Amino acid sequence: MRLTILGGGGFRVPLVYGALVGSEITELTLYDTDPVRLGVIRSVLAGLPAGPRVRVAEGLDDALRGADFVFSAIRVGGTAGRVHDERVPLAEGVLGQETVGAGGVLYGLRTVPVALHIAERVAAVAPDAWVINFTNPAGTVTEAMASVLGDRVIGICDSPVGLVRRAARAAGADPDTVSYDYVGLNHLGWLRSLTAPDGRDLLPGLLADATALASFEEGKLFGTEWLRALGALPNEYLHYYYFRRETLDAVRTAEETRGEFLDHQQGEFFARAAEHPDRAHELWEATRLEREETYMADSRAATGGWQRDSCDLDGGGYDRVALTLMRAIASGEGARLILNVRNAGTVPALPDDAIVETVCEVDARGARPLPCAPLGEAELGLMLQLKAVERATVEAALFKDREAALRALALHPLVDSPAVASRILAAASADA
Ligand code: G6P
Ligand code: MN
Repeated sequence: MRLTILGGGGFRVPLVYGALVGSEITELTLYDTDPVRLGVIRSVLAGLPAGPRVRVAEGLDDALRGADFVFSAIRVGGTAGRVHDERVPLAEGVLGQETVGAGGVLYGLRTVPVALHIAERVAAVAPDAWVINFTNPAGTVTEAMASVLGDRVIGICDSPVGLVRRAARAAGADPDTVSYDYVGLNHLGWLRSLTAPDGRDLLPGLLADATALASFEEGKLFGTEWLRALGALPNEYLHYYYFRRETLDAVRTAEETRGEFLDHQQGEFFARAAEHPDRAHELWEATRLEREETYMADSRAATGGWQRDSCDLDGGGYDRVALTLMRAIASGEGARLILNVRNAGTVPALPDDAIVETVCEVDARGARPLPCAPLGEAELGLMLQLKAVERATVEAALFKDREAALRALALHPLVDSPAVASRILAAASADA
């Protein structure tokens, strides 16, 4: 079986490669617009146990032709683009974050046209391939690609499975044996039940146990009082919504944004590893660890400045989600995963073709969402609002429609004025 990675010079490609060792993938094709990054990543792969044969593609069509699976993991504009998308809103006093708030909308606006082009080329040269979208903002980007590829594109994220596994461990259960009800949009979802093999829901007991709640990432972020009042465990990215004042303060007062940190960190890694290919793997490992340890540092600073535990780092990983998904499709053996797929009636208030993030059954025919319990009004309200933002973002990028872009920004719950949205849009397009 042949797998293609678009964004083959991406920092996380070695994780995926490592997960492929011993799998049914016999050929891995890498494609990237940046030859230096691609060269560095190839040197990192050389330091790993041998996996599939690696081929470097000359162009997009060459990369796609003959692929059974395509992982789309690109960053349009690179980390410099991320810095820009996060800084422009912050200068207006509203949150700029890779996938949340005005920053997420700006990142979506720059990414959707490229993602759509990729989807069109897949439809033309590899119509039978399955596309697994890693590219953020994953909900918006998958929504755009699905307008061309339908159910052949599936979006993934590792934060929902990370939450399930951390909550299961905190409740004293084996994360591999629990079942669960998780629903929402990408980076905007809720874990509403966690069921042990004997059918007991472990969530009420976990919410009642302050010590257990204080033992894992989401418990520490949201705090016992709010989690009990809410009655569910939110995705970590909901911290920016529920604690908007505290998280915005933390982001604004931090020395550098996450994008700036990564721009420096990644820039240094790629430069040093290009100079010392023999040390590329070792440099990558150290950089990866530092990246994981500093993840969501602003949110942690806003809640007391604690460190991430090693078991919080063991979420489930993009690589594992992607590989499980790919295997379930290729082998036809069932798997249950939280994925970004078309709604198809799961949340009756949303259109059937809107991408939602929910528990899916996967087999040779692809991923189908499982029925889920009805959403509470507050959760449904947020989902509807954010879906309108995502769809306006896609419309703006698709039709180069400034009014749609203004709607996308101004309707975001973390943007407090259309005048602010308009200035953000002007600043973003002036520098673009
Ligand atoms: C989580 C999110 C991803 C994000 C990643 C890295 O896993 O679910 O969508 O890409 O963190 O975030 P970072 O800030 O390190 O780029
Ligand atoms: Mn994600």
